[in-house]
Amino acid sequence: MTSTPAAAPVFHELRGNLLLVTVDNPPVNALGVEVRRGLVAAIEAAEANAAARAVLIVGAGRNFIAGADIREFGKPPQMPTLPDVCNRIEACSKPVIVAIHGAALGGGLEIALAAHYRLAVAGAKLGLPEVLLGLLPGAGGTQRTPRLIGAEAALSLMLSGKHIGEQGALKMGLVDRIGQSDDVLAEGLAYAQQLLVEHASVRRTRDAQALADKDAGTAAIAAARADTAKKSRGLLSPLKIVDCVEAALTLPFEEGLRVERARFLECLDSPQRAALVHAFQAEREAQKAPETRSAQPRPIASAGVVGGGTMGAGIAVALLDAGLPVTMIERDDASLARGRAHVEKVYDGLIAKRRLTEDAKAKKLARFAGSTSYDALADADVVIEAVFEDMAVKQAVFAELDRVCKPGAVLATNTSYLDIDAIAAGIARPQDVIGLHFFSPAHIMKLLEVVVPARVSADVVATAFDLAKKLRKVPVRAGVCDGFIGNRMLAVYRAAADHLMEDGASPYQIDKAVRELGFPMGPYQVIDLAGGDIGWATRKRRAATRDPNARYVQIPDRLCERGWFGQKTARGFYRYEDGQRAGKPDPEVDAIIDAERERAGVTPHAFTDEQIVRRYMAAMINEGANVIHERIALRPLDIDVTLMNGFGFPAWRGGPMHYADTVGLPALLADIREFEKQDPLFWKPSPLLVELVERGESFSSLNRAV
Ligand code: 3HC
Ligand code: NAI
Repeated sequence: MTSTPAAAPVFHELRGNLLLVTVDNPPVNALGVEVRRGLVAAIEAAEANAAARAVLIVGAGRNFIAGADIREFGKPPQMPTLPDVCNRIEACSKPVIVAIHGAALGGGLEIALAAHYRLAVAGAKLGLPEVLLGLLPGAGGTQRTPRLIGAEAALSLMLSGKHIGEQGALKMGLVDRIGQSDDVLAEGLAYAQQLLVEHASVRRTRDAQALADKDAGTAAIAAARADTAKKSRGLLSPLKIVDCVEAALTLPFEEGLRVERARFLECLDSPQRAALVHAFQAEREAQKAPETRSAQPRPIASAGVVGGGTMGAGIAVALLDAGLPVTMIERDDASLARGRAHVEKVYDGLIAKRRLTEDAKAKKLARFAGSTSYDALADADVVIEAVFEDMAVKQAVFAELDRVCKPGAVLATNTSYLDIDAIAAGIARPQDVIGLHFFSPAHIMKLLEVVVPARVSADVVATAFDLAKKLRKVPVRAGVCDGFIGNRMLAVYRAAADHLMEDGASPYQIDKAVRELGFPMGPYQVIDLAGGDIGWATRKRRAATRDPNARYVQIPDRLCERGWFGQKTARGFYRYEDGQRAGKPDPEVDAIIDAERERAGVTPHAFTDEQIVRRYMAAMINEGANVIHERIALRPLDIDVTLMNGFGFPAWRGGPMHYADTVGLPALLADIREFEKQDPLFWKPSPLLVELVERGESFSSLNRAV
C-alpha cells in the first residue's frame, strides 16, 4: 500500500524514496486515538515498503502536533497508547524525520523526540506544557528529553511548561536544524533527502548521551527538587517530574519509562488534572460569547485612553504592547505629565530587569501621544475611560466623547462598580458604549471583564472580544450590576471574612487558611497591598444606601481612620517594617479587633482553619450562583475563569464553581442553611443552588456552549 484515504487524520504517501506522513486532525492535530492508530500504521507501512527508505512526519494546518487530545483524559483508554506510538516510531528500522512548524507541544514534542532527526522552521513553538495541566510528559518525554539535552535543561522545560522558539530549540539540542524558509514541507523533504544522500542511520534518542555526566545530572535534580518543593504550592505533578528525571539518570531506559507511566497515571487520575483541564477549556469557551458568533468586530487600529492614573497608564501600556497607537487625555498638563511618567515607569522597570531595551521603549513611546483636549480623540477607533469612580465625572467625559469621537468609535468605561446603562443613556449613541473592566496592574493581569449594557450593539461586544485577543487578555462576558462578576463576588466573600474576624478568627489565621487553600495571598494581605483606602472610600459612598439590618463589621474602618492603609503607609492589618513587603502580625490590630467585638456585643469563639475555609468558600459560591441566576455571568465556567484570572483563585482547584462540584452541592447547601440560622440576611441560599440540589445536578451541567 502506498497511500491512505485522504479523509483519515493521518495520511501517508510515497514521495520518491520517502514515506511522507501528514497528521491532519484540526484544529491543532491533537493525538486522538485515530491519529495514534494512523501513526503506527504509517510506520508499519514504511517498514513493509522496500521503496520507502525513510519516513518524514509533518503536520497539516498551522501546527505540527499540539499534544495528547485533552478531551480523552478521564475516559477509558484506547489502544495504542501514546507511549506505544512513540516507542514504535523510535524502533523503526528506517530513519524517521520530523519537520516542525507551529506548535510541537506535549505529546507532539514527544513524537518528535522519538523520531531520529528533527527540523524546525521559523515560528515553531516547542515545549512540554503538561505541568500546566497537572500532568507530566507521559509518552517518554521525561526519559528522552534529559538524554537529549541534559537534566538541567529538561527540568527547566518540563517544570516551567514554557514554549521555546526554533532558535532556542536548536541551541538546546532539541532540534538538529532550522529550515531556510517557512515552507515546512519543502524544508522537511530537502532535509530528508540530504540525510539519505549522507546515508544517515537510525539514531535513537534513548541512546543519546547528554546524561553521561552523572554528577551534573545529580546536582540539577537536587536543585530542582529543593526549588520545586518550595514553589509548587500544592501542585502534585512538579515533584513527580523531578522523580522521573532522576529515574532517567539512574535507571535503564525501559525501567525509566515504567516509572514515568506510573507517575503519569497518578497525575491523570488526580482532581488537579481535572481542574486544570477544566481551566484550560473554560478559558477558551469563555471567549465564545454569543455576539462573537452573531456579529463582526469593528476594525481597531488606534486607541484613546482618558485618565492617566493607575488604571489609565496600565491600559495604555497594554494597548501600546499590542502595537496600537495610543492617545491619552488628562485634565491638565501636570496630570498628563504624571500619566506619561506612569507609562514610562512601567517600561523603565522592564529595562532594569533586562526584559526591554531602550530602543524598544523608544519605539513604543513613539506611538504614544498625550493631550488635554478631547479633540485629539477624533480619529480613535476605541476610547477607554479610566477617570475617577464618580458618575458625574464619567458622564461629563462621555458627553465629550460623544461630541468629538467619529461615528462608530467604541466608547468603553473601565468603571469598577458604576451603572454602565446610566453612562450610556446620557449620550446620543448608547449602542457604542461598553464596559472594559481591567484589573490592576492592567498591563499584567490577564482578566478583562467585557461588561455588556442593555443597549450596546452586538458588533461592539464582538469588537471588545477581538480587542481582548489583541491585548492577550482573557475576556469574560459580564452583565451590568454592582461590581459585575468579580468585584460583586469579592464583596460578599470579603464580608464573610470580616464576619469571621469579628466572631473570633484573627485576620492572620484567615489569611493563612485561605493561602493553604491555594490562593497566593489571604484577603487581608490583598487589602494591605491594594490600599485599604480604596475600599474605605467605596464603603463611605455606599453608607447612605446600605441596608441598616445588614451586618456591617467596622474593624477595617477603624484601621483606615488611623491612616493605616496597608503597605503604602507601612501599617494596615499587618506592620511593614523598614519598607519590607512581607508584613508582620500587629498586636495593636488585635487590640482594635477585641475592642470592636466588645462594641458589637460579640463573644468571640475559635474557628478551625477548615471552618474558615467552609464559610469563605460557601459565601463565594453562593454569590456565584446568584450571579448566574441573574444572568450576570452566562455560565459557571465564566465565573471560574474570572476568579482564576483576576482574583488569585488556584487554577488547580478549577475556580469556585468547579470546586463546588467537587465538594458536592448538597453538602454546600447544608452548610449555608446552617449559617443561615445565625444570619438569615447574609446567608440566603441562592435559588439556583437550591434548584440544582433538588434536581441532583452540578454546576458543570450548566457549562454548555452559548
Ligand atoms: N487537545 C484537544 N484540543 C485542543 C488541544 C489538545 N491538546 N489543544 C488545543 N485544543 C483545542 C482548543 O480547545 C480549541 O478548541 P475550540 O476551537 O473548540 O475552542 C482549539 O484547539 C484551538 O485552541 P486555541 O484557542 O488555544 O488556539 P491557539 O492557536 O491560540 O493555540 C495551542 C494553539 C498553542 C496549540 C494551544 O491550544 C495550546 O497550548 N494547547 C495545549 C497544548 C498542550 O497543553 N499540550 C499538552 C497536552 S498533554 C499531553 O500531551 C500529555 C502527553 O505527555 C502524554
Ligand atoms: P486614579 O485616581 O489613579 O486615576 C484617575 C485619573 O483620572 C487621574 O489621573 C485624574 O487626573 C484623571 N481624571 C479625572 N477626571 C478626569 C477628566 N475629567 N478628564 C481626564 N482625566 C481625568 O484612579 P484609578 O485607580 O486609575 O481608577 C480609574 C478608574 O478605573 C475608576 O473608575 C476605577 O474604579 C477603575 N478601576 C480601578 C482599579 C484599581 O485597582 N485601581 C481596578 C479596575 C478599575
